[in-house]
Amino acid sequence: MSDRKILVTSALPYANGPIHLGHMVEYIQTDIWVRFQKQRQQQCYFVCADDTHGTPIMLRADSEGITPEQLIARVATEHLADFTEFGVAFDNFHSTHSEENKTLSSLIYRRLRDGGHIHSRSITQAYDPVKNMFLPDRFIKGDCPKCGAQDQYGDNCEACGATYSPIELKNAVSALSGEKPIEKDSLHYFFNLNDFADMLKQWIKADHLQSEVGNKMNEWLENGLHEWDISRDAPYFGFEIPDAPGKYFYVWLDAPIGYMASFKNLCARENLSFDEFWAEDSTAELYHFIGKDIIYFHALFWPAMLRGAQFRTPSAIFAHGFLTVNGEKMSKSRGTFIKARTYLEHLNPEYLRYYFAAKLGSGVDDIDLNFDDFTQRVNSDLVGKVVNIASRCAGFIHKRFDGLLSKHCAEPDLFGHFVEANEALAKLYENREFGKAMREIMALADRANQYIDEKKPWQMAKETDKDTELHEVCSIGLNLFRILVAYLKPVVPVLAHNAEIFLNIEAQTWPDDARPLLNHQIDVFRPLMTRVEPDKIAAIIEASKENLQKTQTPKARQFEPIADLIQFDDFAKLDLRIAKIIKADAVEGADKLLQLTVDIGDETRTVFAGIKSAYAPEQLIGKLTLVVANLASRKMRFGVSEGMVLAAGPGGRDIWLLSPDNGAVAGMRVK
Ligand code: 2FM
Ligand code: ZN
Repeated sequence: MSDRKILVTSALPYANGPIHLGHMVEYIQTDIWVRFQKQRQQQCYFVCADDTHGTPIMLRADSEGITPEQLIARVATEHLADFTEFGVAFDNFHSTHSEENKTLSSLIYRRLRDGGHIHSRSITQAYDPVKNMFLPDRFIKGDCPKCGAQDQYGDNCEACGATYSPIELKNAVSALSGEKPIEKDSLHYFFNLNDFADMLKQWIKADHLQSEVGNKMNEWLENGLHEWDISRDAPYFGFEIPDAPGKYFYVWLDAPIGYMASFKNLCARENLSFDEFWAEDSTAELYHFIGKDIIYFHALFWPAMLRGAQFRTPSAIFAHGFLTVNGEKMSKSRGTFIKARTYLEHLNPEYLRYYFAAKLGSGVDDIDLNFDDFTQRVNSDLVGKVVNIASRCAGFIHKRFDGLLSKHCAEPDLFGHFVEANEALAKLYENREFGKAMREIMALADRANQYIDEKKPWQMAKETDKDTELHEVCSIGLNLFRILVAYLKPVVPVLAHNAEIFLNIEAQTWPDDARPLLNHQIDVFRPLMTRVEPDKIAAIIEASKENLQKTQTPKARQFEPIADLIQFDDFAKLDLRIAKIIKADAVEGADKLLQLTVDIGDETRTVFAGIKSAYAPEQLIGKLTLVVANLASRKMRFGVSEGMVLAAGPGGRDIWLLSPDNGAVAGMRVK
């Protein structure tokens, strides 16, 4: 056992949605690296957790009629099942909504506060007067202040790319209630990131980041660091700030602390020393694998928080790029937004592990999952090259030599060449150059196949005096296969395990001093991997399109879980009619209501409508509107309402009825 102590994390997935193949790039990348370290017998721990706090999770639970705790428990089970079936072997998968995380978040906050790195001041924010809550930017929609595009989020415009504050948005409405947000003040807590500007400059210089990431950081540092708002007002699903009742830690404050919390939980279970890995003077290594979109949090806030709270800082942050599918951003309509679960229902997870490994390097470039390339690589490399070596040799060993390998190694140089490759391969794995490692391993597999092609054991088998040679050639083939499988083990652990059973050997460690298996009994050959079937890929894409139809559609449904869906049959029950307003009166004592008499073709109805803010009663006479004619009558404080007027608009002065000159006539049915 070496004396390296290594703690590794993958980013914590949000607990409000399923794992998809974009996520899997990171978990597979990290898992390969960790398995490599463990195979080299380093003391290495891989921890993760669900990222459970924040407004979207609170609202989703609400819309499902369950508590956030119930939601995150369900999602954690689903996430862990997906990871496990993909072979991602965490030493611990925990939750940010845990006692350990609460304690550590409070501790870090108090240390930052006592060190003078926290200040508070009042800020003005958008507030939903119906839902009685402050609105995160993503929950405000309106028209872009730059280009006027409608239905844009409160922080940026998807049409022109402008970024702005939600206060600048025109015709803003809350995506939760549809109401116009009001501005409201509240006290917020801030982390003084700039206190750590010098420390961060030094830290970035000291090679903790990939070069392209370091360059980006320097740009940010040159532009000056801003204070970071770490508090949110109730209602919020998270941890209350110790000295600030009603204020909660912003989800991004306690998320990275979740790395520590998950490890702390593991320490209690396995009797490890937390301080050995996290104390300021720790000599253990700490690595965070993340996507390039969350570098800011990990390379600026996180090291600063750790330093300010007297903990060690990360040894390195390893950022990766995004996943594209067939050359494009994952798309729900094209069926390329593929959930991990959908993939698992159709294909062997080790295909994808190998494919990602073959595409991954140490940089932040995006990687593309091209299904033709995927099929071709898996079939030609894993099945056609690696597994094929075993299937070409095992039959003869069983049929002719009772499953016993030869006593003598006929090709010590060739075997030695395979073992010597371990040093270069170890460097590639260590440096996350998995694509290069896969190419080297496949070059060795080509060499083994070439050897078998040259020796032609199938011809030797037909000749009476070639038994010894046949025995030795096939034994060499299997010995080379064994070394290849050892090199591939971090990538395809199940294949490697089944090969170990077939070869009747112990779990293989890194083969830096491997000797050939001589006079060794092997087990029966079993097919170790079958070819990718193209119809399975078609099925995944089809199933992913279905997901879309069932669960999402338009952008306006972004917050779909908040409004309960109705089925078509429910909609079909509505009797929608064009109605002509023939009388309109103010209602005494009501601010918003008008009493309307409407002609719906075969009868007149009395309907109360909340449109007084947009129309004086006299403006309405003769106007057309849409009504729900078969709504059960409702007794209101001012009288009985015999239907419902439908109108479009954000409210206030902007409520639009139909104008009478567009060809519609009273009584027309609308379908
Ligand atoms: O971007 C995300 O999906 C976040 N949930 C990642 C958090 S990583 C860590 F900081 F917790
Ligand atoms: Zn715009």
